[in-house]
Amino acid sequence: MEDIETQNIELQLLLQAIYLKYGYDFRNYAKASIKRRIQHRMLKEGLDSLSAMQHKVLYDIAFFERLLLDMSINVTEMFRDPSFYLALRKVVIPELKKFSFLKIWHAGCSSGEEVYSMAIILKEEGLYERTQIYATDMNEVVLKQARDGIFNISKLKQYTANYQKAGGLESFSDYYSAHYDHVVMNKSLKENILFSDHNLATDGVFGEMNLIMCRNVLIYFNRELQNRALGLFFESLGNESYLCLGSKESIRFSEYSHAFEDIVREEKIYIKKASHSEEIRTYD
Ligand SMILES: C[S@@+](CC[C@H](N)C(=O)[O-])C[C@H]1O[C@@H](n2cnc3c(N)ncnc32)[C@H](O)[C@@H]1O
Repeated sequence: MEDIETQNIELQLLLQAIYLKYGYDFRNYAKASIKRRIQHRMLKEGLDSLSAMQHKVLYDIAFFERLLLDMSINVTEMFRDPSFYLALRKVVIPELKKFSFLKIWHAGCSSGEEVYSMAIILKEEGLYERTQIYATDMNEVVLKQARDGIFNISKLKQYTANYQKAGGLESFSDYYSAHYDHVVMNKSLKENILFSDHNLATDGVFGEMNLIMCRNVLIYFNRELQNRALGLFFESLGNESYLCLGSKESIRFSEYSHAFEDIVREEKIYIKKASHSEEIRTYD
């Protein structure tokens, strides 16, 4: 059995190899979670060391693609945490109605369930037609699923319940057509959504957003990478614009804490204070 220090060296070398060969930067992800994902793939592929895995990563692209799917953890759902969406509808949406045009960024949108949830709320609140939504993720496989808007029918019961708890105004079945084992979301929901590749560890800012959602992504990052991502959000948000994080995440304890106020504390909805809008930060 190798000692922990040697294993840590092997892990660093593996993450460095992935970065140099493919440009995906996992070097600042939370170590415990990344180790669990890598061990899971090691077991599945019958590999007995991280060094053996490094060789496979470098010479077998199909293997790397499987590992990438493990490492990006794409779990999501429609109207995930319905109380969050209810707060969004009741507290934030009325404020957004003041604007003639809106820009919303979903960072780490996975297979799109949260983006379609937002599109439904915006439609019901009469805001969809004047909103441009940017939905991004580092993982192309899930982005394709998001673009297609096709979801497994087995989850529909839960999604319908979530939609109702989130204050849904119509019947959830108005928004999709059902087929044998899947549902296809209505095309009109994605008219104003632009799906694209964006990596929070390596890519840059988006301009003047009114709202940024990045839920259940920072939880996988270490403090340094959380600061980088929050710096991108700070730079991408306009005056008095909103930042929404996941239930286990917070802007507090980050470099950007002072720049945001709580709007709905328990749902991790923040507003960027106007006085900080001119402040320039670096995030590289
Ligand atoms: C657990 S899912 C969360 C999905 C959705 N936001 C939600 O809350 O239901 C995490 C997503 O973050 C994405 N992700 C992880 N690291 C990322 C990075 N560095 N840049 C962009 N997306 C990333 C993953 O690919 C995955 O789709």
